[in-house]
Amino acid sequence: MCGIVGYIGSKDATGIILNGLKKLEYRGYDSAGIAVFSDGKLSIRRGAGKLEHLIEKVSSDPVHGKVGIGHTRWATHGEPNERNAHPHVSNSGSVVIVHNGIVENFRALKDELLTMGVSFKSDTDSEVIVQMIERYYRETESLEEAVDKTLARLKGAHGVVVLSVWEPDKIIAARIGNAGGVVIGLGENENYVASDIPAILEHTRKMIFLESGEKAIITSNNVEVMTLDGKVIHPQVSTIGWDPVAAEKGEYRHFMQKEMFEQVRSLTDTLAGRVDFEKGKIFLDDLHLDASLARRIKRIYITACGTAAHAGMIGKMLIEKIARVPVEVRIASEFRYEEPILDADTVVLAISQSGETADTLAAMEEGRAGGAILWSIVNAIGSQAMRIASGCISMQTGPEIGVASTKAFTAPLVDLYMLAVLLADLRGVITQEERKTLVEDLRLVPDLVGQCLDRETEVIHAAEAIREAETAFYLGRGINMPIAYEGALKLKEISYIHAEGYPAGEMKHGPIALIDHEMPVIVIAPDDPWYEKMVSQIEQVKARGGTVVAVATDGDQKIQALADIVLWVPRVPWMLSPVITVIPLQMLAYHIAVLRGLDVDQPRNLAKSVTVE
Ligand code: AGP
Repeated sequence: MCGIVGYIGSKDATGIILNGLKKLEYRGYDSAGIAVFSDGKLSIRRGAGKLEHLIEKVSSDPVHGKVGIGHTRWATHGEPNERNAHPHVSNSGSVVIVHNGIVENFRALKDELLTMGVSFKSDTDSEVIVQMIERYYRETESLEEAVDKTLARLKGAHGVVVLSVWEPDKIIAARIGNAGGVVIGLGENENYVASDIPAILEHTRKMIFLESGEKAIITSNNVEVMTLDGKVIHPQVSTIGWDPVAAEKGEYRHFMQKEMFEQVRSLTDTLAGRVDFEKGKIFLDDLHLDASLARRIKRIYITACGTAAHAGMIGKMLIEKIARVPVEVRIASEFRYEEPILDADTVVLAISQSGETADTLAAMEEGRAGGAILWSIVNAIGSQAMRIASGCISMQTGPEIGVASTKAFTAPLVDLYMLAVLLADLRGVITQEERKTLVEDLRLVPDLVGQCLDRETEVIHAAEAIREAETAFYLGRGINMPIAYEGALKLKEISYIHAEGYPAGEMKHGPIALIDHEMPVIVIAPDDPWYEKMVSQIEQVKARGGTVVAVATDGDQKIQALADIVLWVPRVPWMLSPVITVIPLQMLAYHIAVLRGLDVDQPRNLAKSVTVE
């Protein structure tokens, strides 16, 4: 959840680290800090709140050196103030650490250190790590041994990076469990470490991803990777294809805005190389799916969190409709507790933008432990969810930085549609003609998304009309029901307006009592098999004085006559309609948040990747 950057080489570490932290601020913005080694000592600057406060501090009180580590925090233990900001320093000032994760047994460890006379300067769980390293160093006089002994005492999942005056020619980085990836960037006589690729992408594309239970000793001209008990490993070096500019905001005001507008490109890339429109065929090579496996599959569990789970709900409908395979969608944080029925003919399919969401990874572990086939649809290259799956569909969206997920929602919708068609084809449950039609329907999707994005002005007018609302309902039915959930989630997370997504047919069983003329009701009513039911729904809301904002298909006069505001979308085959209907709702949430003067990319209390349970 927190962002980590480290540098060792011949350049000024401060600029590189602060710049890297800027790219990671989406991971947490409760506080930030940096520690740099020079002239035999560690200089530390820390600031509460956003990174800009730290940058101001560093410019008025500069620190320079050729090796250093930095951190941007999403608070779990201890208030988000300066005293709890990382890097944490040992009492002698000799060791600093930055940490991502939760030390589950920190109270016991802290008590142990307190009885030994160690005092603490923060309320965090993380500080026990640095104080314990110092204590073990006094016994061993070896930084590596002290770090090893400390890591062995920690319960929970962690990414930890250590720097010390005792051995300042090295940074030690370690990963335990699923929390927080650790990626090492390889340079010429310089090396980098970070919690995520964008932090260091402008410096190098050659990267090593630490696995759980591995550590790295990073010097300016060498990286040695080993298990925590010292077995040397020859790690795979990945070359990252992402364009560094893709992780920049460019001419856009916010990352979220940029990412919404990138959806034409991301969906074009999603189809590229995977769809043969001439033959009407789908190719998802990294899934390693053949006819025998496809026929064997008895059931699919889709597991994910938040926006990714909403994509999964639509995927369920697509796979059941097209491929006739039973699918259950399980919220990843609940999966372990629901005792899912798993075996070798069951697929556990995880969907995750970051590929490091702790709950999703835990659900995958559950799948693996139950002997299921493990698949994932993931955006972040090299992430844990991509690596542990036996089959993967890589989202072709490039880095997503805005906390509110947009392009990493529409890409998996198309991936799931393609998966449904491929499964159906391999299982022999659709005819060649049906397959060709389903594939052909994909052709226009990027263009139709572009047409929706071109209608931003009409969305801005709708945003102006409802910007003062205190609460809102989003209603959908059938394949667009999860779009109601997704539209409501987008509004909640960036504009802080209470919003509820609801299956339209359920309104009459209670929630309709809430409707009055002050509550906007956003009704998703494209031309799909549930259209007539949605029209009745609009009538019911209007009869109770509600204000209706409808998402409707171009030229729909019935809805134009009924609704107060219409957000028009182009006509699209209904199974692909969620990819289109979500676009005005993403833009609506965005513009309401902008009109309310809120920080769209860094909404309060949130972080982009949730690497704690
Ligand atoms: C989306 O707007 C949210 N910020 C959040 O629900 C997100 O989708 C969820 O945390 C899952 O993240 P993942 O896709 O990285 O696993």
